[in-house]
Amino acid sequence: LARGTHAADLAGHHVVVSAGGTREPLDPVRFLGNRSSGKQGYALARTAAARGASVTLIAANTTGLPDPAGVEVVPVGTAVQLREAVIKAAAHADAVVMAAAVADFRPAAYATGKIKKKDGEDPEPITLVRNPDILAEISGDRPRPGQVIVGFAAETDDVLANGRTKLRRKGCDLLVVNEVGERKTFGSEENEAVVLGADGSETPVPYGPKEALADTVWDLVAQRLA
Ligand code: CTP
Ligand code: CA
Repeated sequence: LARGTHAADLAGHHVVVSAGGTREPLDPVRFLGNRSSGKQGYALARTAAARGASVTLIAANTTGLPDPAGVEVVPVGTAVQLREAVIKAAAHADAVVMAAAVADFRPAAYATGKIKKKDGEDPEPITLVRNPDILAEISGDRPRPGQVIVGFAAETDDVLANGRTKLRRKGCDLLVVNEVGERKTFGSEENEAVVLGADGSETPVPYGPKEALADTVWDLVAQRLA
């Protein structure tokens, strides 16, 4: 479908989108993070609003990006904060799209003072603990019946097989699978993907603007809301 032909097909629906990447603090000046720019999540929020949805955007460390017009933006930092915000917003949502890159691990301990070097001493190893899996949690414990839940995954090697396995493991309805490679870099304006459905469907999305991928995701969500 060309853009602009969707009219207000999401009117009357409330959707939640997570975007960006979580940061897990080590001390007041340092964190473990990732390269997610938040652009795909922001494109999802903008296109959903353009199609008439009421949108809550849970934004993890996306300070460079302007708030989309007419969208409720909830800023968060860590995976634990993202989980809390997503679960709260999901209670009233018809669809949840987890586009955020969630840190799988966080430092086991947070140092309230800056970690300092000591003369002649090796650094202390950093112990990590698992973060909660937000997508698996909301998929397994649907706060609202009929809710549509979408995940994102960047994969290498056997991209489709890895995506199928991940879709089953998470229990979501749709998984947008990106192949990580040469021109498909973090922070770019474009994306290429295959959207896998729990119903066995496979929707390829050619290399193009993140808005086009976002519109395809909302097409597939809208079919499942109907
Ligand atoms: N996700 C999540 N909570 C986590 C990790 C991931 O909600 N703790 C979500 C992401 O937002 C994304 C999807 O799960 O929508 C897939 O993320 P990915 O990192 O590919 O999945 P993992 O289960 O962490 O698998 P991997 O070991 O390949 O990183
Ligand atoms: Ca991960």
